Amino acid sequence: MTSHSTTEFVVTPGGRLEGEVTVSGAKNSVLKLMAATTMASGTHTLYNVPDIFDVEVMCRLLESMGATTNRRPGVVEITVGELTPVAPFELVEQMRASTAVLGPLLARFGHAELGIPGGDDFGHRPIDMHLSGLETLGATFTSSADGVVGEAPDLMGGDVLLAFPSVGATENIMMAAVMAKGTTRIENAAREPEIADLASMLNKMGARITGSGSSTITIEGVTELEAVTHRVIPDRIQAATFLAAVGVAGGEVLLREARYDHMDMVCQKVGEMGLRTSPDRNGIWAMGPGRLNSVDLQTLPYPGVATDYKPFLVALLAVADGTAIVTENLFAGRFRYVDELVTMGANIRTDGNHAIVRGVERLRGARVKSHDIRAGAALVVAALGADGETIVIDDGHVSRGYPDLAGDLRALGASVETRPAS
Ligand code: UD1
Repeated sequence: MTSHSTTEFVVTPGGRLEGEVTVSGAKNSVLKLMAATTMASGTHTLYNVPDIFDVEVMCRLLESMGATTNRRPGVVEITVGELTPVAPFELVEQMRASTAVLGPLLARFGHAELGIPGGDDFGHRPIDMHLSGLETLGATFTSSADGVVGEAPDLMGGDVLLAFPSVGATENIMMAAVMAKGTTRIENAAREPEIADLASMLNKMGARITGSGSSTITIEGVTELEAVTHRVIPDRIQAATFLAAVGVAGGEVLLREARYDHMDMVCQKVGEMGLRTSPDRNGIWAMGPGRLNSVDLQTLPYPGVATDYKPFLVALLAVADGTAIVTENLFAGRFRYVDELVTMGANIRTDGNHAIVRGVERLRGARVKSHDIRAGAALVVAALGADGETIVIDDGHVSRGYPDLAGDLRALGASVETRPAS
């Protein structure tokens, strides 16, 4: 589904979930891979591309710079020639991941203009680490109310120590360094699987990157890259959504294509709660035995429990047996969906970056609103374990990250319908 209109998810309680669902390609990977295509002329082909709204926004962004894109189910072809290295405000403000074009454009054209980043509505999200890392490689920036203009006629390799393992900063600096002269070392780099996926595609394009997936990434600069074909890794956040669904509703499911090795920590956490998971030849097998136990948890950079999983885990804890303290360490203001869960009968109190979740036996259906991609999906998941009908009003957030959340849950036996908002 690729629409930004207001939708209602109508969830009626059902029984246990059974069957299998295929996890699509990762949103947080494909958008960066698409940005990386701007670094090499020719036609790039990406496979396992999710049919989500953010991919469409990235296509429009690349087209606005002069690339051509061609989409068919699961595939996007991007043809790149000379580009105008300007990412316009009206597209960048729709999606924060647009910032991923900054490093590639500077590397290839020595100049880049970027409208102010927007994206999910969960607090202030600066790009200071992106800019200071790129400055270490010799770029200079001027900022105005309209955005950022970068100049980098001669990028030189350098040592970058990140104050925090930022995913976006690691990616932008890594991409710029690919075409800088000499060697770049990024210390305290983010280790998310999506970064290793990006490095793997860049290496196919001709880059010389080692250490991706670890805290130290080393990049030897090259002068030219070529267009490639690449398959996007599966979406671990989408997979966690289905894990939570089977946790709330009970049942036994196969998450086809999901990678256990990308989800060790979250599987361990839900395991402590009583949800059984194991790697399967075709993905991840999961079994929800009924009511789960509470456990405390905190979000951390990978390999810790991702902040993106938290809404699902809070939805699970809302109906678990016991009390849990949940601590958010990455983003301020990522508890907005808690008010909606409380409307559904959850007993949750927030204080700064902590939430105290006292599990209740059952939630009750209500009319609630989604505030971002994962929060919206978490409310749909929570509704699977509620008494009565729940309506989740979603202003286009969920389709930014899920090709067909309702259809996937229906495939597992849940009763979830979508309709235009009334
Ligand atoms: C990416 C993911 C997002 C995920 C997040 C953390 C995409 C499209 N989005 O976002 O889903 O929740 O990683 O796993 O891949 N920060 C700064 N200055 C900077 C950059 C970041 O202060 O220059 C701060 C942020 O405000 C935040 C923390 O660092 O508090 C982590 O942000 P970062 O890892 O950069 O997240 P994103 O790349 O934006």
